Amino acid sequence: MAQKFICFTMITCLLILSCSSYGEARPPHKARPAHKGSMYYYTVPPQILLPKPTCSDSMDGLQIEKLQKPNANEAHLPLIRGNQPNGKQLFLRDIYRADLINGRGKKTRTINSIDGSQSASRYSHGERNGNFHTTLAFGTPEQTQTLIIDTGSDITWVQCQPCTSCYNQTEPRFDPSKSSTYSNTSCISGSGNTYDQHYEDNSYSSGVFGCDKLTLPPYDVVQNFQFGCGTDNSDDFGENAGVLGLGRGQLSLMSQAASQFNQVFSYCLPKDCSVGYLLFGHQATKHPASSSLKYTPLLQPSGSTTYYYVELVGISVAGKKLKISSSVLASMQKHSIVDSGTVITRLPSSVYAALQSAFNSSMSIYPSAPNFEILDTCYNLKGHNMVSIPKVVLHFGGGTDVSLQPHGTVWAGKSLSRVCLAFAANHYEDDHVIIGNTQQQSMQVLYDLKEGRIGFGACKG
Ligand SMILES: *[C@@H]1O[C@H](CO)[C@@H](O)[C@H](O)[C@H]1NC(C)=O
Ligand SMILES: *[C@@H]1O[C@H](CO)[C@@H](O)[C@H](O)[C@H]1NC(C)=O
Ligand SMILES: *[C@@H]1O[C@H](CO)[C@@H](O)[C@H](O)[C@H]1NC(C)=O
Repeated sequence: MAQKFICFTMITCLLILSCSSYGEARPPHKARPAHKGSMYYYTVPPQILLPKPTCSDSMDGLQIEKLQKPNANEAHLPLIRGNQPNGKQLFLRDIYRADLINGRGKKTRTINSIDGSQSASRYSHGERNGNFHTTLAFGTPEQTQTLIIDTGSDITWVQCQPCTSCYNQTEPRFDPSKSSTYSNTSCISGSGNTYDQHYEDNSYSSGVFGCDKLTLPPYDVVQNFQFGCGTDNSDDFGENAGVLGLGRGQLSLMSQAASQFNQVFSYCLPKDCSVGYLLFGHQATKHPASSSLKYTPLLQPSGSTTYYYVELVGISVAGKKLKISSSVLASMQKHSIVDSGTVITRLPSSVYAALQSAFNSSMSIYPSAPNFEILDTCYNLKGHNMVSIPKVVLHFGGGTDVSLQPHGTVWAGKSLSRVCLAFAANHYEDDHVIIGNTQQQSMQVLYDLKEGRIGFGACKG
């Protein structure tokens, strides 16, 4: 009896251990190939890989509560993920985005996309997983606006009244005539008076530059912030008022508020319905998650000034480094960017092939499942209480290793019957390697332009 009890207790302990120590090394599990060490695998209940179907309205309550947090006196912006999209649209858009980053985007809009007759290929920014949005305010008195954050573009814009072509958005459109501090002349010399910003899939915003006070809740104010007052905008941004440009170019918020924020910002991209954050300046550097970040140098390439380049020097799967040829490695070291707007991480095709092969042999106990759009390495994980996913580690310059979470490694659309490796191959070997937002989920990423580095760690708080 006593033996039985001990045995029962031990099993309970083991069960608790294996659930609670999620993310850490754990005792051997029968679903894992016996020859692999447990420290190189995550053993998790497969349900954690599934996205929440929808985020309820309670999100809005949470957002407002956080915005009004009285003891936070510098910019601390809650970051919310857009609703779970239709996979087809999401991945179509992701292809366009990668193409655009690689200079193959359609940078001029067509008549068709204005009158909407190409609507079959359209998607909505707001209805996709790839989007994270936050709420800030323009003008005096403040007009609250919710914007998509984007490290892949510089210009910040909002839809403006009176509008030639605008879509419906959550808050009333920004009305410059109601702001006593608005000026319709640009405040950055040499930037001109008009803008025409294009994104992937022919989405765009155009209008005039204006300058006004930008308030980053709850407290920080950027005076004379130049942004686009969009009077002609494609209907691709969900119900968001526009885009917050967090690139590193001259017109981005980071450049315009460089001295105020010490050229530092960070974000935590939330998983599903949780609330992440976007922090600037001291808020970013003194945040608890920032003390344990691992940094890699930010490169300063000639040419593009918008993207954040890092040096990706290798990838490991289940503790084994992938073999990468020296020419591909040289290209990877020069052409890798971290992007908040690309969903799926892109790799040179030979590196992707090596990753796929290593991942596939680590997953050999699970039956294969059909491809899912751009994802071609999929498994049926139905019917398991626990599944073992090999750890994928990204090795960056400066000896920085970033271990991806299970949900940063695989993509589960709607069902466990098809869970896919969340990476894709580039078309050309010298295309950009793009570290996408699936991989960055639950990760705090700190962009420090002053010290020339990017830090990675776990989100906290
Ligand atoms: C936009 O809002 C107006 C007024 O609420 C409504 O009549 C119209 O149908 C909406 N348009 C779209 C595309 O949802
Ligand atoms: C700016 O506003 C002034 C009037 O306040 C107007 O005359 C001028 O045309 C405006 N400029 C632009 C670029 O809209
Ligand atoms: C993975 O390996 C299995 C054999 O274990 C093979 O049948 C399958 O085609 C492989 N899948 C991919 C995507 O390489």
